[in-house]
Amino acid sequence: SWTAGNVIADQVAAIRAQVGDAKVICGLSGGVDSSVAAALVQRAIGDQLTCVFVDHGLLRSGEAEQVEEDFVAATGVNLKVVDASERFLSALAGVSDPETKRKIIGREFIRVFEQAAREVVADAGEHGEDVKFLVQGTLYPDVVESGGGEGAANIKSHHNVGGLPEDLQFELIEPLRTLFKDEVRAVGLELGVPEAIVWRQPFPGPGLGIRIVGDVTADRLETLRAADAIARAELTAAGLDREIWQCPVVLLADVRSVGVQGDGRTYGHPIVLRPVSSEDAMTADWTRVPFDVLARISTRITNEVAEVNRVVLDVTSKPPGTIEWE
Ligand code: XMP
Repeated sequence: SWTAGNVIADQVAAIRAQVGDAKVICGLSGGVDSSVAAALVQRAIGDQLTCVFVDHGLLRSGEAEQVEEDFVAATGVNLKVVDASERFLSALAGVSDPETKRKIIGREFIRVFEQAAREVVADAGEHGEDVKFLVQGTLYPDVVESGGGEGAANIKSHHNVGGLPEDLQFELIEPLRTLFKDEVRAVGLELGVPEAIVWRQPFPGPGLGIRIVGDVTADRLETLRAADAIARAELTAAGLDREIWQCPVVLLADVRSVGVQGDGRTYGHPIVLRPVSSEDAMTADWTRVPFDVLARISTRITNEVAEVNRVVLDVTSKPPGTIEWE
């Protein structure tokens, strides 16, 4: 019968047989799949694994810490954190076109990950050539979607870590290849991966960079991070995390509207709440979040986030809207 314990036992044996005493790297995104894959490989081969987490500065409040502290505390994994926020911010300076932002973020991500992978190899010193394997959090639906063939699956897998360059040759370890999302979560919980990671809602690779309508600056990121943290805290407090697929919080940095606060006129930016319900993100409906929860979020954001004087709700399904605004 299917149990998370059996899956773990089988995979631990298979990974040990595949890897021997070679070294392994894994790109961690902070999401469910890469975290559970890393925890599983860690269970199998311990210190032979090094995880690489690229902080592009476009993360939500607390996310980097969740990986750096909670994940490491739970698994004892070797973690290399690359703080690349300056680099991403300068590459994004003055760019407001959504597709251009995505391309820049994707390109920089590959460069930073590639550099980090080379450093892991260099840190291994004379054993550098023993870094032979790369862990991928590929799930069964990913395998099916990409046609099931090895070549197709590899393209998809490489895409998961941002598309690795040709000259970085690794053999892949894909311990979640036969699993569906709910099974991955069960395995993660059994391995002691923190619930906040196991139950994390989807979050796009380009992060908050595509949730600022307008160009991305450090100040705007700070404003959005503060508003997003409030919305997430209130939705969680209201017990809505499992009902909501995800709730992008978007800063309309290119829009201002007039408001009044205290004795004064304000001329600030709107925040958009985009709570959606979905099965697979291909289609979605806007979630009917109770009015009192929306009211609390709105009151807190306008009181606590200086640049924001208006909160609006996105009531568009997908299609015609996409889940993200960019
Ligand atoms: P859209 O906006 O296309 O989003 O309706 C569908 C789902 O995909 C997520 N998303 C991304 N995830 N890299 C990712 O890893 C990306 O570039 C990206 N863009 C969108 C989005 O959050 C939603 O869950």
